[in-house]
Amino acid sequence: MRELTLRAPAKINLTLDILRRRSDGYHDLRMVMQTVSLYDLVTVQTETGTGDIYVRTSLAELPNGPGNLAWKAAQAFFDATGLENNGLEIAIVKQIPVCAGLAGGSTDGAAVLKALQQLLLPELPEEKLEEIGAQVGSDVPFCIRGGTALAEGRGEVLTTLPSMPECWIVLCKPEFGISTPELFGRVRVEALPFHPDTEGMRDALAAGELRTVAQLTGNVFESVLMTEKREIAAIVRALRDAGALAAAMTGSGPTVFGVFEEEEKACSAAEQLRGRYTQTYLTEPV
Ligand code: C5P
Repeated sequence: MRELTLRAPAKINLTLDILRRRSDGYHDLRMVMQTVSLYDLVTVQTETGTGDIYVRTSLAELPNGPGNLAWKAAQAFFDATGLENNGLEIAIVKQIPVCAGLAGGSTDGAAVLKALQQLLLPELPEEKLEEIGAQVGSDVPFCIRGGTALAEGRGEVLTTLPSMPECWIVLCKPEFGISTPELFGRVRVEALPFHPDTEGMRDALAAGELRTVAQLTGNVFESVLMTEKREIAAIVRALRDAGALAAAMTGSGPTVFGVFEEEEKACSAAEQLRGRYTQTYLTEPV
């Protein structure tokens, strides 16, 4: 039996733009993604002798079969590599909120792929691992790569970008969740009232200008929110009032992130918001 534990980081969207609806039911996107220091812990054991894939998570409501992206990732790995599965156990300690726009499920799937690569097939190129990840979910390739990247296509076409300048990022998730397919279903691309300046964001990252990066954060999903709008706007306001350079929703929400230059302000913002929203976290770009 062999075992490996990896940290699986959450992601935020510095920008999220929807370009068009595709004939395959997906949408072409353009987004700048960033991993942050809020982690699930994913332990993978191989050679457990059963020939099956078992998933255990610290949250009872999560599926432990094919409905879990960690399970799907493991199956996709064996299918793509042709390696025999001599029994696999995956244990996930969840710290990233679920249905939150933080890629919690995708990052667990990505960690399983990385662990299987390291344990069973170290010569498998990262590129191939990302290809397998794309079959598991649109955000999985980015979660494998991590750091700062432009994601296009469904989200699987990646270009690594210069790292986000050092800063503090407060994540705050309201109680409700948002279903990604349901939110995509609300989008009328031609009616979107704005598009984030992705090129400007690339330039700001290249120049290492945190204030410009913050100014250019933007997510088109914010314009199709309905009942969720008021609470998300309230969190954005609270973060701004507490000194955030900017605050925006990540992914399909509902988590809002605030970008801070100073640790002290970020700490006190997180403390303040935690009184009302228990799922509030102080993180950094990683
Ligand atoms: O790829 P993933 O399984 O994470 O996508 C979940 C759902 O989100 C898709 O079934 C689709 O409804 C929507 N989606 C989309 N366009 C994308 C990514 C996801 O419409 N680029």
